[in-house]
Parts: sequence; structure tokens; C-alpha cells
Amino acid sequence: MSPHSAPKLDRRQMLKAGATIAGLSLGGRALAQSDRIESLIRQMTPAEKAGQLSCFSDQIRPIGLPFNPGLPARNDAAAQLARIRKGEIGMLFNGVGYAGARAAQDAMMETRLKIPLIFAGDVIHGLRTAYPLPIAEACAFDPDLAERTARAAAIETTALGMQWTFAPMVDVARDQRWGRVAEGSGEDVYLGTKLAVARMRGFQGRDLRDPTSVAACAKHFAAYGAVSGGMDYNFTEISPQTLHEVHLAPFKACVDAGVATIMSAFNDIDGVPSSGNKWLLTDLLHGQWGFKGLVVGDYTADEELIVHGYAADGRDAAKKAFLAGMDMAMASNLFNLWLPDLIEKGEVPMARLDEAVRRVLSLKEAIGLFDNPYRSISQKAERTQVSTPGMLKLSREAGARSIVLLKNEGDLLPLKANPGRIALIGPFGEDRDNVVGTWAFMSDATLNVSIAQGLRNRKLTVDVVKGSDVEAPIAGGIEAAVAAARNADVVLLAIGETQLMSGEAQSRTEIVVPDAQMALAEAVAATGKPVVVLLRHGRALALHGAVKDAPAILATWFLGSESGNAIADVLFGDVNPSAKLSVSFPRESGQEPYFYNHKNTGRSAPDTGSQEYKARYRETKNEALYPFGHGLSYSRFTLTNVTVPAQMTDAMEVTATVTNTGSRAGAEVVQLYIHDKVASRTRPVRELKGFERVLLNPRQSRTIRLRLTRDDLRFWGENDWVVEPGQFDLWVATSSVDGEKRSFELV
Ligand code: NOJ
Repeated sequence: MSPHSAPKLDRRQMLKAGATIAGLSLGGRALAQSDRIESLIRQMTPAEKAGQLSCFSDQIRPIGLPFNPGLPARNDAAAQLARIRKGEIGMLFNGVGYAGARAAQDAMMETRLKIPLIFAGDVIHGLRTAYPLPIAEACAFDPDLAERTARAAAIETTALGMQWTFAPMVDVARDQRWGRVAEGSGEDVYLGTKLAVARMRGFQGRDLRDPTSVAACAKHFAAYGAVSGGMDYNFTEISPQTLHEVHLAPFKACVDAGVATIMSAFNDIDGVPSSGNKWLLTDLLHGQWGFKGLVVGDYTADEELIVHGYAADGRDAAKKAFLAGMDMAMASNLFNLWLPDLIEKGEVPMARLDEAVRRVLSLKEAIGLFDNPYRSISQKAERTQVSTPGMLKLSREAGARSIVLLKNEGDLLPLKANPGRIALIGPFGEDRDNVVGTWAFMSDATLNVSIAQGLRNRKLTVDVVKGSDVEAPIAGGIEAAVAAARNADVVLLAIGETQLMSGEAQSRTEIVVPDAQMALAEAVAATGKPVVVLLRHGRALALHGAVKDAPAILATWFLGSESGNAIADVLFGDVNPSAKLSVSFPRESGQEPYFYNHKNTGRSAPDTGSQEYKARYRETKNEALYPFGHGLSYSRFTLTNVTVPAQMTDAMEVTATVTNTGSRAGAEVVQLYIHDKVASRTRPVRELKGFERVLLNPRQSRTIRLRLTRDDLRFWGENDWVVEPGQFDLWVATSSVDGEKRSFELV
């Protein structure tokens, strides 16, 4: 490649380019053509174009290595810099920090066209400061909170040399065996869609050109959450109805809201791998939905078309993925290797190559990289905008707001400020390595607050006994734990999963507390001391024995950097819990996939009476142990004066009075569910269609208004969305199983 000087624009051209850039937006809205980009495309060789469409894990700042198993064992920063200079790299991901980014961008500025690199990363729930896992934060039922944590994460991301995040993960996950449930918003499409858009807005900010904005990436397109048997990377079997109503809906909402990028998934749909699926990546996404941004393939997803049995070799895989609509290949290098040859032989049209390059350059232009290639590469920001007191405060607030009080017999919680002797028992009491959860591998572990530390920060004396490892007993562990319990007034039992038991490639067949910890729980319970279970988990669990029977249970997930402080805030009532489950806790693992919004079947098991020849298992009830939407408070709330119009045409308002009858201020999340009674397609027993979080002082009441529109009642018919008039059931409720049934007619 012979070095030429970069294209020079005269002042008039610069002004014109600036004007078009100002009008540029990604996602669902119009993408104005930029003279600068068109001029570059005219000058680029096919090899330079392929380089822009190729991205690699950062080897100059090699933090992502353990998470990208395909990488060579040795990091070779010099080799990667040389490849940048050769124009073979358009984006680097999962590297953090000023110095390396500066070096990489300097190398890029030595290429003849000086097209800046863009830096991306898996900033899923924070970067240095970790916020709650998305599945946990979803329990707050608060899009505003999700937007705020994403915004704070974006500020850190841009302070540390990245301008693009591979988030939000918007896969609806209805099978808790799948480890990646941790990364999304749970089992419900309505809640998931609201949070997907909120997070996207938080990342992208008001304007992508703002130096603290990061481009968002809705992933994994599509239906990755539907992998068979909950086994990661597995095939999917999925009906068009479920595909459109459940799995595609959050992506469509993100596109409508202006998401900059989309990541294509590993799994197949209807026998065609998503990453080689032209119907999905082009016809639907760009054609029907009008998406103008770029599609990045998931890690080696193009190359995996070969193992899927959908492509013969690397050349064929590159061709199929690229023609299907994958614009950028992650880590495989197949686009560099094969696109120039495919163009030369006429197997890939130049127009398609230019289209993909245009999308990549438009993203770079939209975030302002052409004007300042060193945007978000600042020593000062790295010093001042990372793990600020405000970020840590937000992490603590979000952590406490994500904790779900599953059970509280005899009002054991909150603990009194001076609760007597506390025994903190279990592998997660003192632990600081399993605090933030999966996909926080770039977080600052020195920030992690253990539960023990959270208690000590309140000047409490705590007897901390490990008792057991997570998956194996430890010698004398149970004896020590029992002795500590006997000596205590209250036991806090910190048990559950490590952070490596959920996340990518971490599916489980039994979603239970491991045996060694169950033995510990049984022994501690046998002392007769009051036990508060502090569950640590990246998915819903099937609770058994002494854990299930404990008088108080808090679902504390992985709450991020400030975990221990957030847990203490709830334990002692400084924060009155108000979170609601984003996923149902089944009774048994074998009930999975388990989700509240299932269909009725022709033989639904009745609550009472004979269960013979009904849809059920021999061993357990159909109902959840703790259903979606469930979560207690230290206050009590009532819902009265529920008014539902008898008929609806285009929209209607449902009103209800919420009263805090307890003695503490607290929040209730009021939920609106519907059921379409007779339709041309079978419909879920209940579907969430609205919610509102209401904060009330003791004995305070408020009337809330929940709006329902015709669009909320539509479903996927034979080939398209339909709305059918008729009778609907409706519940204003505090979980997916309570509330008084009302009805209305859609006319
Ligand atoms: C694979 C994961 O599926 C995806 O979510 C992630 O963004 C990429 N690896 C990059 O780390």
C-alpha cells in the first residue's frame, strides 16, 4: 500500500461536511450522506475497506484476554500496532486506558487516509465502578435508574479511552439454566424493552457527539435468549409468534429510539445462523425497520458458520456473513482475508462493500472521531472521571434498589441498629472476588465492598465464619459455623453462586445452591437461631430445604462495587426494599424454562380439585416459589379503587389508589397485566403492560394512572401484527400472580 497524503478538504467543503454531520443520526432515523465519507470511500482500496470492517481484541491494552479464548496466548502489542499501520484494523475492543489508546490512534494516523480507530468494550454494568448486574437492576423496575447507571458508565468509558459499548444486552431470557440471563433484564418483554431503551439512552446521551457519549450496541440479534435447554451457544427452536413478540421486540424498540449499532448473535433461527441470516440482518432490520447503523458480528460468529454447517470454509463464511448484512467481523480476520478477493471475482458487489464501510465511517463521524481522533483519549479525564464519589454513591443506591426481599416471616427484618451478636456465615461473607458478577472484568476490584466490610462500616462487631467453600466442604467448617451460630442472636447466611457460575458459557442443569453450602445451611438452621439468607446469584435459583425455609431471604444477586454497603443498607432498614423479581424463582430446576407469561394449554391444571390428565409434573406444583413481579417491603401497601373503563377503542386509563399502611416510607411497584380471552392465536395467561413505582410516606395514598393503548393489545398473527376486538382480563397487581381480576372490551 503506497502512502498518500490524507484527503484535504477546503474550508467550504469542511463547512459543508460539518453541516451534514450535524444533521446526521444513527438508528432508525435518516442518515444524511456525508461528503467526507463519500470522498474517503472513493479513495479507498478494497483492502483498506476490509480493514475498516475488521476488529480485534485489544492486544496493546490486553485486559480482555481471558474473555476472548480465541486469542493467541501471547499478547503482541508491536504486532497489533504494525497491523494498524497496515490498515487492517478498524476497531479495537476490551482495552482500557489512555496510553495504549493514544499509541494505537497515533499508529492509525500514520495510515494514508488517517481514518481514526474506534475503541469498543463490553461495558455491561459499569467499567471501573461496577453497578448491579442487569438482571438485578431490572428488579428496581425503574428505567430512570437504569439510564442513570448507564450514563455514569458512559462517562467512565469515555474517560478510559473507549467510545462504543457492546451493551445493552436485550435478550429476553426465559430459561434460568442459561448463564447469560445475568446480563439482561429478565423474562419479561415489556420490562426488558423499557430498560433496553433506557440503558441505550444512558449510554448514547442526548447527542452522540458529546464527549461523554458512547455508541450503544443492542445484542445479540436475535433470539439468543431462546437457546435450547438453556445451554449457551445452542440452537434455537422458535415460533414466528414468539420470535416477533418476545425476542425481536426489544431490538425494534432500540432501533426506533436511535441505537447506533446491533450485534448479530451466535445462534440459528429456523435453521439459518443469525450471523448469516439475510432476512434478519438486512430485510427485517434495515428494510422493514429502517435501521441505518452498523451490524457487528459477535466474536468469530462469521467463522462459526462453518461449524454450524452453513458455510464450507473461511471464504464462504465471510461471503455469507457479509452478504447477509454483517458489516464488521469480530476477531475472525475473515473480512481482511477474503473480501478483496470476493470483490475481485465479482462474488460480492462493490456497492455492498461501500455500504458496510459507509456504516462504519458514519459511526466514527457521528461520535466526532474525524474531527478529533483523540476524542475520549484524555489523561485528565482518566484521572478525574473514574470511580468518582458520585459514581460510588450511585452504585450503592442502585445496589440497594436491586435487592429483593423474598420473604420476611415475623418481620425479622429490618435488623435493629444494635441487633446483638451477629454471625456472618458462608463463603460470601468476607469474599471480595465474587461481588460484581459476570462481565465486569475491567472493574476495579479494589473498590469491592464485602458483606463483612459493609457491616463493619456500621461499627458492628461481626463473627465471620466461612463454613464451606462454594462447591466443596472445608474441614471443620460446619462445626465452626454451628458454634458461631449458637453464640449469635442472628445469623446472616451468605450463600449462593460464584460470579463464574453465570455469564457466557456458564449454563447449569441444576439451578440450586451447591450441596456443600446446603449442608452448611441445614446445620446452621438446626441451631434454631433466626437466619437471614443473603443469596448471591446471577440467575433465579430453585431454593430448597433450610434455605427455602429460612424466615427471611434477600435476593442480593451481584450488586457491583458497593455490594456490602448496599446489603447493609437494606438489612438495617436505611433503605426500605422495593425491588420486584425480574425472573420467576421456580420450585424445581426441572420446571425450566419457567416464565409467568406462558400459554394456558387445553388442559391447564386447576388450583384446586383433581389434577389428573392436566398439564403438570408429578413432583411439584406448577406455580413459582417466587413469581415474576414479587418483592416485599418493610411497609405494607394496599391497592383500592381500581377503575377500569368497560370499553376501549384507541387508549384508556386505568386508575388505582395505592396506600402505604405501614409505619415507614417505602415504594410499591404497581403492575398492570392483561390477558386476551379469545383470539385467533393462543395468548399468554398474563402479560405485563404497564408499571409505576410509587414512593409513599406512612399512611399516605396516591392515585396512579396507568395507560393502555391499542398497540399494547396487538399480537403476531399469521404474518403480521394484528389487534382483535373482544374481551380482555385485566389486573392491577403487586406481582404477576396477585390482583383482583377485572375486564374490559376492546371495540
Ligand atoms: C462474545 C459475547 O457473546 C459478546 O456479548 C461480547 O460482546 C463479545 N464476546 C466481545 O467480548
